[in-house]
Amino acid sequence: MSATETHDPNRRDFLYIATGMAGVVGAAAAAWPFIDQMRPDASTLALASVEVDVASLSEGSSLVVKWRGKPVVVRYRTEKEMKDAEDTKLDELKDPLARNANLPSDAPATDANRAAPGKEAWMVMVQVCTHLGCIPLGQEGEYGGWFCPCHGSVYDTAGRIRHGPAPENMAIPAFEFISDTKIRIG
Ligand code: FES
Repeated sequence: MSATETHDPNRRDFLYIATGMAGVVGAAAAAWPFIDQMRPDASTLALASVEVDVASLSEGSSLVVKWRGKPVVVRYRTEKEMKDAEDTKLDELKDPLARNANLPSDAPATDANRAAPGKEAWMVMVQVCTHLGCIPLGQEGEYGGWFCPCHGSVYDTAGRIRHGPAPENMAIPAFEFISDTKIRIG
């Protein structure tokens, strides 16, 4: 085999690679305008909030909406469910923090700091278990709050972790009642 013969395939390889590179550069240049167009504008960012009409909920019932890809439960608690949560002492809780995006990060996990302000029967909460992210079942478990069957985490009627491997209370997202029966989440 001569030196020329050994050189040719390498040269072809180089040309092939160079062509391939040009293709990649071309593809990147062509893709940029699309990526640029895909940046969220103000109207898209506004969709980061959802409005939920809760007029159809009766005491003891709940609904789940999708917000930023996560299930958010709105639960209209019964008198008993509220009272059970209110009567729970902070030192009985596994996680003493409210985990409420509407409050300072060190706010304690009292029932008042978990429920909707001024509408304490209402809970608005990201219904995702803080252990490994399963979706717990509502109105279940020892406290009648939420139960995560994945590994047995038990939450009370304020969504606070009481037993099981989950380390934190379920998160309360930023939200507000914008009318008597409408909630804006996010
Ligand atoms: Fe809920 Fe493991 S994910 S207990």
